[in-house]
Amino acid sequence: MDLINTVLNIFVPPASLLMLAFAWPTLTFINTCDWIYNTYFNAEDMANKVVVITGASSGIGEQIAYQYAKRGANLVLVARRENRLWGISENATRLGAQNVLITAADVVKEDDCRRFINETINYYGRIDHLVNTASLGHTFYFEEASDSGVFPILMDINFWGNVYPTHVALPYLRESNGRIVVNASVENWLPLPRMSLYSAAKSALINFYETLRFEVREEVGITVATHGWIGTEMTRGKFMVEEGAEMQWKEEREVHVSGGPVEEFAKLIVAGACRGDPYVKYPSWYDIFFLYRVFAPKVLYWTFSFLLTTAGARKTSFIGTGRPLLEGSPSRFPARSPSRRSVGSPPATLSQAFQMQHKME
Ligand SMILES: NC(=O)c1ccc[n+]([C@@H]2O[C@H](COP(=O)([O-])OP(=O)(O)OC[C@H]3O[C@@H](n4cnc5c(N)ncnc54)[C@H](OP(=O)(O)O)[C@@H]3O)[C@@H](O)[C@H]2O)c1
Repeated sequence: MDLINTVLNIFVPPASLLMLAFAWPTLTFINTCDWIYNTYFNAEDMANKVVVITGASSGIGEQIAYQYAKRGANLVLVARRENRLWGISENATRLGAQNVLITAADVVKEDDCRRFINETINYYGRIDHLVNTASLGHTFYFEEASDSGVFPILMDINFWGNVYPTHVALPYLRESNGRIVVNASVENWLPLPRMSLYSAAKSALINFYETLRFEVREEVGITVATHGWIGTEMTRGKFMVEEGAEMQWKEEREVHVSGGPVEEFAKLIVAGACRGDPYVKYPSWYDIFFLYRVFAPKVLYWTFSFLLTTAGARKTSFIGTGRPLLEGSPSRFPARSPSRRSVGSPPATLSQAFQMQHKME
């Protein structure tokens, strides 16, 4: 048995790579034909369809809302900062959204997810797309975390914050032959230092949705979007810091980063979702990191070791000034607790949603 595996270890990887190299032009041709057909003849018409977007108060979620609005969809915008959602719903209406409901909710709380999905069904009677973008990153080395209470928070938002809304919405998505759009990250296969927990949650997310894809088969589509740095609140420094679940903005950070155009990426995601694409990648050449990870992990290790060896650099990624992230909200997450937590606006009721609807009319 060992001998068989030894032989396969030697021959299967190079043979498979060679086969892939030969099959590449044919696969590219098939994908291109597929893309043309689905773009020009088979794209989903979103007019009057219902789209629920979590994490719609900023960044990619906000821009995705505008893209669906331009296609004439009905929107449900979900995030904790209700004040931001009001402005975004007005913009979305101007851009062509039929109706916009806003609801302040914490996706980490299953009850909140049940509430906003029920509100959507009570109001619109259906859900066609569920777009999950709620997320929180971090940039501290794992060893720097002084309070292990931050660990479940990061897993909660980045993993369960996708799973709960999906679980509640799935029966309605089956009815409408709908679609789930997931925002993962290139960190799934390119493990970046200072992002261990975020990467772990995103990898779990990918495996969860890849499994779900087989379970729901043709009845519900799943589009997984993976990307590198995009210019959003996250890249401007909305991160969790190691001192214990506090977040700060970019000007307070040691490491400054910039990102790609968020509008362009949102456009790609929505176009891909309407085409029925299983994946949206931006930029797609990042995929090659997957091959390095499997076949040449040492190359990745050497590269990071080289890039991160800056003599005398402090290990800590943030300077703790203590300015709260969420304006007008509590400056800290509550002290360590195993239970689910929420920060931000009070829950919006259905009647508030109706008020919004009347205001827009
Ligand atoms: N930007 C990048 O470079 C980048 C790279 C790779 C992957 N991504 C992924 O792309 C997605 C969007 O990220 P982004 O860059 O647009 O980040 P962002 O601007 O920080 O937006 C995150 C959104 O999530 C919401 N949110 C966070 N916690 C929540 C909770 N518990 N309940 C409800 N809403 C919550 C935030 O709204 P409230 O604070 O108002 O609740 C905000 O609207 C994420 O999945 C992220 O992991 C981004």
